[in-house]
Amino acid sequence: MTKNDDRARAGTRETYEKGARFYDLMIWLYYLAGMRIGLWRRKVIKALALRPGDTVVEIGCGTGLNFSLVEQVIGSEGRIIGVDISEAMLERAQKRVRNAGWKNVELVRCAAADYRFPRDLGGIFATGVLNYEPAYYQVIERGAKALARGRRWVILDYKLPKSWLRHLAPLFIFLGSGFGVSRDLMKRHPWESVQRHLRNIQMWELYGGFVYIITGESP
Ligand SMILES: C[S@@+](CC[C@H](N)C(=O)[O-])C[C@H]1O[C@@H](n2cnc3c(N)ncnc32)[C@H](O)[C@@H]1O
Repeated sequence: MTKNDDRARAGTRETYEKGARFYDLMIWLYYLAGMRIGLWRRKVIKALALRPGDTVVEIGCGTGLNFSLVEQVIGSEGRIIGVDISEAMLERAQKRVRNAGWKNVELVRCAAADYRFPRDLGGIFATGVLNYEPAYYQVIERGAKALARGRRWVILDYKLPKSWLRHLAPLFIFLGSGFGVSRDLMKRHPWESVQRHLRNIQMWELYGGFVYIITGESP
């Protein structure tokens, strides 16, 4: 890990420490900009093809907005491990877990690049996270090795569209600026690591190509 990478992570962590109390509200406000985030979350969880009893790792789980969708599939026999760099986001996730009465959620505070995945996972996913992680390619590779055979990594993130809509990037960046969205982060291509380390790849472009979901299976 380089010092620059650590500095970038510290900056992201600070952004989320400060923004945690507004996060869920901001997500609702994004709906007004046409972002159908609830639908995208459902698409991610469907793409994971989880089964009852699975152990699932969510990288950058934030306030736990995906947990209920996962719980509905894995049930009380399954297990969710939520990893996040921000203490304040995890405190909110912990509160959500307590209020829902889930006994099968473990929260881990660390950078994605420092996390050591347990073996034989039933699924790994990250929604709106990996562009922040400078070593995203390592995280994807390690995750791919930790999945049980045939199980899936699913990533939702943002990127520059190939079409003329890329000219609207300043507007997209403006909408996400409170959470550190930037043109530099848009130049990261986590989907290429998924294509490199997994097979049976499927990719969907959403929101005019600014958002994508990719899924791949462990070989
Ligand atoms: C846009 S939020 C997404 C939260 C959640 N996945 C969701 O869909 O609501 C990004 C989350 O990633 C976390 N994060 C950013 N960089 C990270 C890193 N390098 N390692 C782990 N978590 C990170 C932030 O703390 C924040 O909670």
